Amino acid sequence: MAEKVLVTGGLGYIGSHTVVELMAQGFEVVIIDNLSNTREDVLDRIAQITGQKPVYYNGDVCDANDLEKIFAEHSDITSVIHFAAYKAVGESVEKPLEYYRNNVGGMITLLGQMKKANIERIVFSSSCTVYGDTDRSPVDESSPIAQAASPYGNTKIICEDILRDESVASSLSVVSLRYFNPIGAHPSALIGELPLGVPNNLVPYITQTAAGIREQLTVFGEDYNTADGTCIRDYIHVVDLAKAHVMALQRFGKMDNRFEVFNLGTGNGNSVLEVVQTFENVSDTKLNYRIGPRRAGDVEQIWASTTKANDILGWKAESSLEEMLRTAWAWQQTL
Ligand code: UD1
Repeated sequence: MAEKVLVTGGLGYIGSHTVVELMAQGFEVVIIDNLSNTREDVLDRIAQITGQKPVYYNGDVCDANDLEKIFAEHSDITSVIHFAAYKAVGESVEKPLEYYRNNVGGMITLLGQMKKANIERIVFSSSCTVYGDTDRSPVDESSPIAQAASPYGNTKIICEDILRDESVASSLSVVSLRYFNPIGAHPSALIGELPLGVPNNLVPYITQTAAGIREQLTVFGEDYNTADGTCIRDYIHVVDLAKAHVMALQRFGKMDNRFEVFNLGTGNGNSVLEVVQTFENVSDTKLNYRIGPRRAGDVEQIWASTTKANDILGWKAESSLEEMLRTAWAWQQTL
């Protein structure tokens, strides 16, 4: 019988791509999403790709009643993948209470309802931001957790702490996935990132500039201690990332420890200017950009050690930067 999984935030950027991969692997998917940062038609788009519409509830993980109803109506759910959270670093500095309430409060409510429904497996969306401004790239999972640079980053650290504590106190099993920089879109160009308003992240800013929606990209700082002076990140294709969630579900039952963390990146770092140049090549456009001042809170360079995810999850990122940017551009052109 197909395994049934609840995906919170399943209509969002990473959530929707993960739902597609889960369905392709024969999982039955139930989605809860409050549409705070996406649109309901993503559901039809998932159906177009997979040939099947997942079950969807317009609901909020902060609302215990919404979760209780889902777990009552789907008593065969065996695991949860928890994406539903706010993710804008700058906004979190302005509205810390909202970030703690939604990201931390939402997860506590979810864990409480999972416990009542006897669901003991959760995959959590974490971030490389937990490593802070490290000088140890490639950074591996044993690297120390840093003081968070933003309330957003702190919600990821706190949620991991809560999950670790709960895995000791109860029979909860946790796989926490620390994403590096997810970019790109599904090759069908039916789903992708839908930034509301002015994007904060590099790639949506690039594609919107190329599409004429934004005037000019500002490269934040050219005086870092890197080969071309711009920051280095580990950009990973969202479809590769989505596939890792399927592997994470398959890890349950085989875990050495009830709390495991994995880095999800490619293991390669690229500078901002390399991303810009690669984008210009694959899109055959000239990008209007200027060099501006550094952005507060940016780390100079970080990329992943992926050995643990490769060896234990049996997962490896496959897409090249060219492919990631090609799909991001194809998606932008449909908007
Ligand atoms: C940040 C967070 C990450 C979070 C992600 C989601 C940190 C260290 N990282 O990633 O945890 O999950 O946001 O929103 O807090 N850049 C420009 N011009 C732009 C935009 C970005 O030059 O207009 C540069 C940045 O300086 C950075 C790189 O592009 O060097 C990537 O930036 P971005 O896409 O915002 O991701 P991070 O800041 O790495």
